[in-house]
Amino acid sequence: MALWVIAEPEDKFNDWMKAQLKPAADPATPSEQRGRQAFLSSACVLCHTIRGTEANGQVAPDLTHLASRMTIAAGTLVNNRGNLAGWITDPQAIKPGNNMATVPLRSEDLPPLLDYLENLK
Ligand code: HEC
Repeated sequence: MALWVIAEPEDKFNDWMKAQLKPAADPATPSEQRGRQAFLSSACVLCHTIRGTEANGQVAPDLTHLASRMTIAAGTLVNNRGNLAGWITDPQAIKPGNNMATVPLRSEDLPPLLDYLENLK
């Protein structure tokens, strides 16, 4: 597990903390709306929380501000669209033995789901 420590001036840190405490951004486009629906109607919600939605799982990272992170999967991957897609479709291939199940998704739901997750700044 990798851990980044970023030293910032107090003001900047306080701004960051305030932003992190806010609930998730609402979907800004129809695609993001559809992606949120795909998330909320799948097993993702059993493990993950997105504050401000019904997703309230307590056994996996909180995704409320996922898009503001530099990396995902405890530093394993740079946080970009391609890596997110790879992680969501086959987390065990990337980090064997981790506690995320592979959740079957309809292929047409993946792009909207990525649009939604990438808007969670
Ligand atoms: C059985 C529980 C479980 C389910 C279901 C699940 N996840 Fe996860 N997820 C995890 C765990 C545990 C991790 C942390 C894995 C690690 O880093 O070792 C994780 C990590 C993630 C991450 C990376 C977060 C970060 O900051 O590192 C994303 C993004 C993610 N999951 C999205 C999803 C999506 C989208 C779904 C539904 C399609 C989903 N997960 C379903 C347990 C789950």
